[in-house]
Amino acid sequence: MVLPIRAYGDPVLKKVAKDIEPGHPGLKQLIADMFETMYEASGVGLAAPQVGHSIRLFIVDASPFAEDDEGKPTEDAHLKDFKKVFINPYIVEEEGEAWPFEEGCLSIPGIREPVERQPRIVLQYQDERFKEHEEAFEGFAARVIQHEHDHLDGVLFTDHLPPLRRRLLQGKLRDISRGKTDAKYKLRFTPVK
Ligand code: NI
Repeated sequence: MVLPIRAYGDPVLKKVAKDIEPGHPGLKQLIADMFETMYEASGVGLAAPQVGHSIRLFIVDASPFAEDDEGKPTEDAHLKDFKKVFINPYIVEEEGEAWPFEEGCLSIPGIREPVERQPRIVLQYQDERFKEHEEAFEGFAARVIQHEHDHLDGVLFTDHLPPLRRRLLQGKLRDISRGKTDAKYKLRFTPVK
């Protein structure tokens, strides 16, 4: 089932998400729904708070970046298998010189801005069977994880922008929170007082 994605301004996007335990009710269905929702919106990653669940869970699928339109491997061919579920993830190391990359977010439709992040991370997480992993990621894969991991701490990519840039975006962000967007997927807005 495709779920509505919480738009900028929803308080759940600013909350620190909680760890979950094996047997978490409805988890299998939630993960399946999140993949369906992400594909419907043509996203590369989706965090549980974006569909209203304040739990430490996100999914990614960057495999479309591994092939070009004709099905030939791209320079990102290593992303072929980068379809994963991350449960209770924590970045335990981050290193290297920060590099800018234009990010977007399904909760903030129509805005893309360069964000500086470090290129290498080590992530502790559990997979969908709650098996423990500690794994290193770099480049685009690390970038996607850093963005989704931020969602679990109530942080949006716009929070990383320089203050002036954020101020210039304020009007657009307010419009999104009020439902003024031409996004092609289902969003849920929170009425602002
Ligand atoms: Ni996002």
